[in-house]
Amino acid sequence: MLSWDEFNEEDTTTAAPATAAAQPASQTAAKLDNDAAGSVEEARAVAADDSDAIARAKRALDDLDIQEGLNELEGESARVRVDEKRMINARADLNQLVPFKYDWAWQKYLDGCANHWMPQEVNMNADIALWKSKDGLSEDERRIVKRNLGFFSTADSLVANNLVLATYRLITNPECRQYILRQAFEEAIHTHAYQYCIESLGMDEGEIFNMYHEIPSVAKKASWGLKYTRSISDPTFQTGTPETDKQFLRNLIAYYCVLEGIFFYCGFTQILSMGRRNKMTGTAEQFQYILRDESMHLNFGIDMINQIKIENPHLWDADMKDEATQMILQGTQLEIEYARDTMPRGVLGMNAAMMEDYLKFIANRRLTQIGLKEEYPGTTNPFPWMSEIMDLKKEKNFFETRVIEYQTGGALSWD
Ligand SMILES: [Fe+2]
Ligand SMILES: [Fe+2]
Repeated sequence: MLSWDEFNEEDTTTAAPATAAAQPASQTAAKLDNDAAGSVEEARAVAADDSDAIARAKRALDDLDIQEGLNELEGESARVRVDEKRMINARADLNQLVPFKYDWAWQKYLDGCANHWMPQEVNMNADIALWKSKDGLSEDERRIVKRNLGFFSTADSLVANNLVLATYRLITNPECRQYILRQAFEEAIHTHAYQYCIESLGMDEGEIFNMYHEIPSVAKKASWGLKYTRSISDPTFQTGTPETDKQFLRNLIAYYCVLEGIFFYCGFTQILSMGRRNKMTGTAEQFQYILRDESMHLNFGIDMINQIKIENPHLWDADMKDEATQMILQGTQLEIEYARDTMPRGVLGMNAAMMEDYLKFIANRRLTQIGLKEEYPGTTNPFPWMSEIMDLKKEKNFFETRVIEYQTGGALSWD
């Protein structure tokens, strides 16, 4: 525990005389500034007992041009006004977090932090026993576990790379960037969770992590996403023209609406269905926490896309709407193919045809969330229990495990 007593004593001995309080505030402030400048100069002077290294460090700072450094920071040098803040191509200083313009982004950052979890907290013992027992799982069930760990272990890396190498730089709003940093860490936790499952189950790591090169239904989804990262990850790529702004918008739609919004859903449904049948409950619990994070990533992405549309209505023309629709339909088709590859026969109370309906239902949601019309009218949700899991609150999960409460665990006491 820190003790502040000695610091308080020091404060008392150097406190300003009581007469200072009687002076007008501006005079007091000017005097403080003068005193501080003198004191700073004194600290910079080379003292007789300074070593050569310390003396050189002090002299090097004499040549420091503050303006040169500040000019390199992003944005203009004035105090930020809310109406100057924009999702893309903003000129306001990006290092001034407040005042907030997009309260939803800050709220999602707070909610993400409140949902913090770590993979090692989940008990994997039952999964290890089941995975290793000869007739614990059918071949079809084992295929589902392997394929999904193979797909997801790479997919979350693709999402994280896209976020930090492309999205972060091009979103010109500090509260959104704050959430993107949180999301990037969550993606790292997800990759960690898959690695933790693969290691716990004693799987062939090379086989699982390289699956996106070896299994066509996995490879197609990965390369579909990578195409969109490639187009904007060049460090010289800049937004600012209708064409480059659209290119960035395509990337956001590809990653938030398709990768995180469609490509994850067949696998999540399969693994969570396994958990509901009391099989691989540790793996299913990991996926359940991941799904909760992912639904927040998706909602954040939708909010960003819609805000960009509001601020730049010229980007959302007929061509762009058609392209966005095509991207979502292509993603849905690839996910349907993935469902067929992972479920050649009915398994876990579901089959590829039911999954196809579910994916069309999800695709309708993604289309309408960004203001496009449904392309699969009349489709219903064959897995209503998935929505219940997504809405799950932190306090309790459906496997009846323990409560994890990070919000209070790290609080400091200053008493
Ligand atoms: Fe993730
Ligand atoms: Fe995500």
